[in-house]
This record gives sequence, structure tokens and C-alpha cells, in this order.
Amino acid sequence: MSHLTLTVEEKSLLVGVEGPGVQRAMEIVVALGRIYGATDLVPVKHVQIAGVSYKNLGDAGVEFLNEWAGDGAKVRVPTTLNPAGMELERWQVMGFSPDFAKPQLSAISAFVRMGVRPTMSCTPYLFPDIAPQRGDPLAWAESSAVVWANSVVGASTNREGGPSALAAAIVGRTARYGYHLEENRRATHVVEVRCPLESTADFGALGYIVGKAVGNGVPYFPDLGTWLPPKPEDITRGGVAGDRLKTLGAGVAAYGAVALYHVGDFTPEAIDRGESLILPKAEHLVIDSLSPAYEIMDANPETTEIDLVTVGCPHASLAELQQVAERLRGERLATRLWITTSQITRKRADDEGWVEIIEAAGGEVVADTCAVVAPVRSLGIKRMATNAGKMACYAPMHSGVDMRFGDLEQCLAAAISGKWQGKYSE
Ligand code: F3S
Repeated sequence: MSHLTLTVEEKSLLVGVEGPGVQRAMEIVVALGRIYGATDLVPVKHVQIAGVSYKNLGDAGVEFLNEWAGDGAKVRVPTTLNPAGMELERWQVMGFSPDFAKPQLSAISAFVRMGVRPTMSCTPYLFPDIAPQRGDPLAWAESSAVVWANSVVGASTNREGGPSALAAAIVGRTARYGYHLEENRRATHVVEVRCPLESTADFGALGYIVGKAVGNGVPYFPDLGTWLPPKPEDITRGGVAGDRLKTLGAGVAAYGAVALYHVGDFTPEAIDRGESLILPKAEHLVIDSLSPAYEIMDANPETTEIDLVTVGCPHASLAELQQVAERLRGERLATRLWITTSQITRKRADDEGWVEIIEAAGGEVVADTCAVVAPVRSLGIKRMATNAGKMACYAPMHSGVDMRFGDLEQCLAAAISGKWQGKYSE
């Protein structure tokens, strides 16, 4: 069994030289290191914390965060937050109850007292001042963002949990195991896709099939680049390739436990190492059709009346907001539409005039939250539609809603008419 070696400074944090809050964080990082057989700790450049919504935290979680903040713990590397359970500024207008808002605001304030930046978004990689670089060690706890960082950027992070990410932020380190080690980044499966992939929703459906098939493996897609236009120069704006890959990553992470994939001639490690990334015993999968995914993800085909159409899971990019605004110009919506995103992206879209167009049609560009982590049932929402694979997986489970799943055009048509039309393939 390997032995975890700590530096003098790390040992001092472990014995409480910097107080009980830092000591508790170091105990968590060290315990994980021992469980996973790490030999040392690695300094991290950025931390993303998940488990922020009061819906997930409950009273015990809010109390725990306040205690940790009260112990004087402060993050020592740039740290950002996942979505909360409501939009922080407009929660009253949106219909959230004070009973939910009060503990939610208390949790956010505990994070802020610890020095965390309250970004409330699952797409920190779309923020121009955060976007990680190749080779950066990170401790990220949002599974869809983990896949993006490892795969599209070539940074390294494990799938951290809420407390382990916060602990890593407080001590500025994480244990060196899993995807921080080169040998664990090789492909365990080769996935040949023989059917067309024509929409973002198709990439979510592909995520379903691949996630189910490979579990926590590392898929290598030799030919997926056929369906991906070249990456735009400014990836923080999103765009067809970026938006498809973020949806694929969210899907494989939600339906399986994938933290890293490679796309031949497209993602950085595949560009550098080509097929030498594939393990000799890698399994070979062929995907001929996305129908098995749509049959499951479009879970309630008998449901035609829709209470909420939701787009932006992971949080919408600037390019997605532009696409929605262009489609809704001059329209009038019959049902509620949320485009969920970060405050930062909403501000950028506002500057372009896209928020105004969406709002004029009756849609909402909702920041800080999403329809999985928000208590949508308390807002009277029982029947939802989305083009996002991860939303189709989690919202029925976490929010107890009926779900229709299809491409963006179908979703926006449903928002305009108030009814879902056709089956996914029509
Ligand atoms: Fe983000 Fe919510 Fe989807 S946290 S990845 S928009 S389920």
C-alpha cells in the first residue's frame, strides 16, 4: 500500500496550526488521499463547489457550512459555486417562498464569508477570467464541468464531492490520484458512432447511451469530429462545437460516471497522442441509432400540455442565448420558458440585446439556478420539456415532473404553442 507523504506545511495544517476550520479541511483531503492510495497532494489552481442548493443541503447542510465559516476557514485558491436553488435577486418575483429563500441565502453567505465567489453556475469554464488551461490541476465538484475540464481543456480533476471540494479550496490542495495521474487518462472504450448527430439534443442522447455503456470508463470517439465544426476562437461564448460537447459531457456524467472522454483529432490529448491513448484491451462499441435513448429520455410521450420549457443545462452559453433570441424575435409564448445561465453570461447577452428579445416574448433568462436544483414543484410546475440530456435524466428524479425531450426547435415551438407536438423523431 502506498504511503501519503505530506510536506511540513501540510502537516502543520493537519495538526491545527491555522485553526479548526483549516484542520477539518486537511483531515478530509488526507482521508481521501489515504482511501485512494495517493502518495502526495497536488496544489490546485481553481475549485468549483457543488451541493449549493438548499433543496440538497437541507438544514443540516446549511448549519454545517455556517459552522465551518464560523471556525475561520477561508479558501486559499480561486473558488466558484454551482447553481443555488433560486435566483438570488429575483426569487420573490419568481414565486419562491421565504421559507426556502432564508436558509438558501444563509448558505450562500457562509460560502462568501469563506472567500468563495458567488457565481452560482455549473459552467465556470465559460467565464473569461476563470477558463482553465491545459494541464491545470483542479478540484471541481460539478460532474458536467469535470468532464469539460478533463476532456475539452486537458486540465485534470476528479469528480469531487461538495465537502471534499470545499476542503480542497481551504487547503489549496487535493490528493493526487485518479485523473491527476497520466495512466488513468487512457481510453477504456472506443465508441464508433455510425448515426447522424444533428442537434445538441442528439449529443445528450449519445451521452445517455455511452454513459450507460461505459460507467466510469474513459471513452474515445474516433470519428465524432465529423459532427463538430471547428472550435471558435473564444470558447467562452459557446458555439455549435462547444455547446454539443458540454451537453455530451453532462450526459455521460449523469447517465454513467464518466469524467473524461477523448475525441480523435479534436480534444487536446487526442490531438497529441492519437490512438496511443487507447488501452490495448479497450472495448469496442458501435452506436447505430439514438432511438433507444430518446425512447427513455422522452419519458412521458402522453404528455402534451407543458408548464415549463427549460433550456440551458449545463447553463446556457452566449451562443445558445443568441439562438433562442433569434428564434423568439416577435413571438409570444403560451407557456413558461426558462433559459438558465449564469449572471455573467446573462449580462453579456443583455449587452447584445438578446435578453430583451426573450423577455419581450414572455420568456425568462434565469440566473443562478436551474430546474433540477430549484424546487420547481412549489412553483406549480408538473410537466416540463427540455433539449438537455442531463435535465431529462435528473428533473423527473429530483423534481418529480413529467418530461418531454427533443431538440431546441421542438422545445421553443412548445413554448410558443403551449403544447408539445410530435414525437422526438417527427
Ligand atoms: Fe447545471 Fe442544473 Fe444541469 S446544475 S448541469 S443546469 S442540472
